Amino acid sequence: MSDLLRPYTGPHLDLPNRIAMAPMTRGRADDATGVPGPPTAQYYAQRAGAGLIVTEGIYPNPLGKGGPGVPGLVTNAQVDGWRAVTGAVHAAGGRIFAQLWHVGRMTHPVTLPDGATPVAPSAVRIGSAPIFTRDGLVPHVVPRPLTTAEAETTIADFANEARAAIRAGFDGVEVHGANGYLIQQFLAENTNRRTDRFGGSRSGRLRFALDASRPSRTRSGRSGSACGSHPATRRTRSPSRIRGVRTGRSWPPSNRAASPTCTSSSAGRTGRSPTCGRAGRAR
Ligand SMILES: Cc1cc2nc3c(=O)[nH]c(=O)nc-3n(C[C@H](O)[C@H](O)[C@H](O)COP(=O)(O)O)c2cc1C
Repeated sequence: MSDLLRPYTGPHLDLPNRIAMAPMTRGRADDATGVPGPPTAQYYAQRAGAGLIVTEGIYPNPLGKGGPGVPGLVTNAQVDGWRAVTGAVHAAGGRIFAQLWHVGRMTHPVTLPDGATPVAPSAVRIGSAPIFTRDGLVPHVVPRPLTTAEAETTIADFANEARAAIRAGFDGVEVHGANGYLIQQFLAENTNRRTDRFGGSRSGRLRFALDASRPSRTRSGRSGSACGSHPATRRTRSPSRIRGVRTGRSWPPSNRAASPTCTSSSAGRTGRSPTCGRAGRAR
């Protein structure tokens, strides 16, 4: 039998096979409310045969929304919408993690509430590919740097989103730390020019990623958590310099027992668990 089809038994999570469905933005939520509807429940329930589903990225606050139809996990209506999704997946025999996703500078005022300026660690604009909005492809704008207090609030928003995910019936969460979004923008020295405790040194640049993912694990109780992180991305060019910070399939490299690790799309490559080092069921 293919290794992919063998069951996985972990400390907190049992899976019938080692196939994980990678997170993929679908853009099917109600654009005004960020609430996922019946098509989302149908879509994920149809894929319940995967060992584990990781959802599309879901924003922890409205400034984290990356494009039209991206869902949130903040309001009661959003939590109720996701509860219907997890219920449909569980009824079909599946398991599902929510991906917690803040895009930082990789969005546009057209997408954000009241035409807000995108936020980022520093005021560094994406100079390459344009961004997709409901008005089509448009050039990026210069983002507004988060204040230190706002960075801390955003970290709390990740923790609150993890808690909301468990209320909504998810089996665990994955923090999206890859692909040039907010967490990776904090990691990279050319997008993080801060001089406060979230920038400067290597440990300063790591702080946001660690603080945003650590509470997700504790706030989500017994549930599983993972942090997806990739080596430098070429898509938006600038988050490409992450010197001194090792990213990738087993990030952070040390102390796996204490750190969320791995990425949802690494099934089978590391020979470890299908998607993450720490996982478990919330129910
Ligand atoms: C349409 C589309 C939407 C995607 N949306 C997400 C997303 O919401 N979150 C995420 O982490 N990755 C997203 N990805 C990236 C995929 O999960 C996956 O990492 C990518 O296709 C490369 O696969 P690999 O990492 O196994 O090489 C998306 C990819 C595609 C093609």
